[in-house]
Amino acid sequence: MSEEITVALGADHGGYALKEEVKRYLLARSYQVVDCGVDSAEPADYPFYGKKVAESVAAGRAQKGVAICGTGIGMAVAANKVPGIRAALCTDSFMAKMARAHNDAQVLAMGARVVGTGLALDILEVFLRTDFEGGRHERRVRQLDQPPATDNNEG
Ligand code: RB5
Repeated sequence: MSEEITVALGADHGGYALKEEVKRYLLARSYQVVDCGVDSAEPADYPFYGKKVAESVAAGRAQKGVAICGTGIGMAVAANKVPGIRAALCTDSFMAKMARAHNDAQVLAMGARVVGTGLALDILEVFLRTDFEGGRHERRVRQLDQPPATDNNEG
């Protein structure tokens, strides 16, 4: 795994405990971490934290983001509202690999009520160590920001 990158972390109350595990995991491996909150398991609204993680990445303060709520769904929706951000909700390592290889996702969304800590850390590791494949996927990822009027699929 590359250890030269900064990872923005964010969670609501449903994801707080897993966010802390993720933070410990990353710091133990010499990653830089930007913690966007929350700082406790008190009830919190996920849109604010999902946006903060995504904005950290969009602004270049972090190269990757991890956003965790109960299901990961709210965090993924919130993060994807920030222009240029591709947030992927992953529930297994294959999804994490493809989110990077084909979709060039910069933000990993996870659901703490869906995946256990061991699986979440495995998903995270795969997400961080998989590179974007480029090639035909480059065009498709570009189209996410500017969808074509028709499908001119060139293969
Ligand atoms: C909070 O109860 C829950 O709705 C939230 O963590 C998340 O799962 C939303 O998508």
